[in-house]
Amino acid sequence: MACLNGSSVVLLITMTLFLLTMTPTCGALKTRQVRVTSELEGGKPLTVHCKSKDDDLGVHVLQPKGSYEFSFKPNFFTTSTLFFCSFEWPGAFHWFDIYVDARDNKICSKCHWVVYEDGPCMYNWSDQQYNICHTWN
Ligand SMILES: *[C@@H]1O[C@H](CO)[C@@H](O)[C@H](O)[C@H]1NC(C)=O
Repeated sequence: MACLNGSSVVLLITMTLFLLTMTPTCGALKTRQVRVTSELEGGKPLTVHCKSKDDDLGVHVLQPKGSYEFSFKPNFFTTSTLFFCSFEWPGAFHWFDIYVDARDNKICSKCHWVVYEDGPCMYNWSDQQYNICHTWN
């Protein structure tokens, strides 16, 4: 491990202060909200379990039309935030990447999804419909 010399330390402190000052005003670091609403038919409960590399958000059981949401702050140093969830109901088990920074950061800060048996659809804030549909992983 190399030692830091004096000017590196000064540079490091300057950069840290700069980042701390910038962080609250930077739009890219706005809190993200992810909401999942069950549109399963036939009264089936939907069990949702979301995780990231560092966090396990636990198991949530949604009744039809029920929803679950969580929020997080994108990390300045990793532009690759990823949350993935399992979606389970009687007879089915699927995975889906519910928040992928490269896919989602420009299209939602409130990322709202409805879950059908065929896959999830995200709310499109431009035309105000849940029409950004994906298939299960
Ligand atoms: C959202 O809707 C607009 C208007 O219909 C469309 O141009 C755009 O491509 C949609 N966004 C996504 C991510 O599909």
